[in-house]
Amino acid sequence: MAQLLITGGAGFIGSHTCLVLLEAGHQLLVLDDFSNSSAVALERVAELAGTRLQRAQPTLEAAPDALTLVEGDIRDAQCLEALFASAKAFGLPIQAVIHFAGLKAVGESVQQPLRYWDVNLVGSQRLLRAMDQHNCRTMVFSSSATLYGYPSPEQVPIPETAPIKPINPYGASKHAVEALLADLARCSGAAEAIQASGGGWRIARLRYFNPVGAHPSGRIGEDPNGIPNNLFPFITQVAIGRRPELTVFGDDWPTPDGTGVRDYIHVMDLAEGHREALHSLLRADPQMLTLNLGSGQGASVLDVVKAMEAASQRAIPYRIAPRRPGDAAISVANPSLAAQQLQWQTQRSLTDICRDGWAWQQANPNGYGDGCR
Ligand code: NAD
Ligand code: UD1
Repeated sequence: MAQLLITGGAGFIGSHTCLVLLEAGHQLLVLDDFSNSSAVALERVAELAGTRLQRAQPTLEAAPDALTLVEGDIRDAQCLEALFASAKAFGLPIQAVIHFAGLKAVGESVQQPLRYWDVNLVGSQRLLRAMDQHNCRTMVFSSSATLYGYPSPEQVPIPETAPIKPINPYGASKHAVEALLADLARCSGAAEAIQASGGGWRIARLRYFNPVGAHPSGRIGEDPNGIPNNLFPFITQVAIGRRPELTVFGDDWPTPDGTGVRDYIHVMDLAEGHREALHSLLRADPQMLTLNLGSGQGASVLDVVKAMEAASQRAIPYRIAPRRPGDAAISVANPSLAAQQLQWQTQRSLTDICRDGWAWQQANPNGYGDGCR
């Protein structure tokens, strides 16, 4: 059992990972400002894990429970200091941090670059400073395949050594945090996926491909604010009748059916990848891992439409529109290093993704509900 700090643990990937980590016997402190999530997600995580959700101030008036939620901002140095110091005072020092908190909408990052750099980079830097001051030097960081920019066809499936060329402020901010982590770990900027690190730091930089789906219970899932930018939540909202049709961005890509191809990874597979990355860090000498988390399988927009039609038994109307600016034709992971290093690979198919994503959408047509953010 380890005492963990989970930043952004109420969010889509964070909530599923919290459940997997509770089931693995860890004790979790979640720090979230609810800027893109709801505490209801964590109440449901507690229910699924057979525990209760304890709410606390950053000063932790009582010893933390299995799942303790603190509302706060990763940029708030006082809040971070109080949290690390209080956990230590209760004899449960934070041993590792899984750092999900951040802003992730590409289009918004183009409109609001200062906000994205502030939350994603300044927030990460304050968190790392608090960790360093409290001798907590193990972090699993949410990075993204967006770092690979527009991969050239000969690079697909994409290895970790592919060139890093972020093409928007969101990607640039993730790249900057990766660089900061490499500096802390005294690692070169080189592309090796596994490097010995200095200063006692244990770091995993996990580059996610396209996380989708939901917990099979239908109790937790993705709850985007407003009109979804991403394909999967948009399709489930068309299937449930919240949106009239899907707009397919281009059918003239150099792909088998002309629509964009992506590597969709079930969020439960991704959550299990975090558990394995954490365990790998905790048992090894200090090192920095840089790993793709994907399935290695590509699916086109029309493949996802067909799979969701089969799962929902509903027609998904769509129309073809021009390509979306900034899109790539194909993005598929080479996940072999994660398989080798973590003994982890995805277990769930596109059919499983659509079944579970549809179950979540059907049971929660308005996500966690209006007004509970
Ligand atoms: P999400 O928005 O559902 O979760 C992020 C969580 O962080 C939310 O609960 C939000 O309220 C919280 N948060 C945001 N700013 C905060 C702050 N300043 N202080 C405290 N909490 C804050 O997103 P997600 O899909 O779960 O993504 C988690 C992480 O994974 C993000 O860092 C994201 O960039 C990264 N990522 C996501 C995807 C994806 O497609 N979902 C792909 C690659 C990488
Ligand atoms: C998006 C982000 C990327 C992030 C990734 C992770 C953008 C430009 N990029 O990429 O930074 O790392 O999510 O999840 O937002 N599509 C449609 N119609 C839609 C929506 C999407 O046809 O309404 C198509 C897209 O053109 C693409 C595919 O579906 O071919 C997947 O799109 P999306 O879910 O937005 O993911 P990414 O483009 O991979």
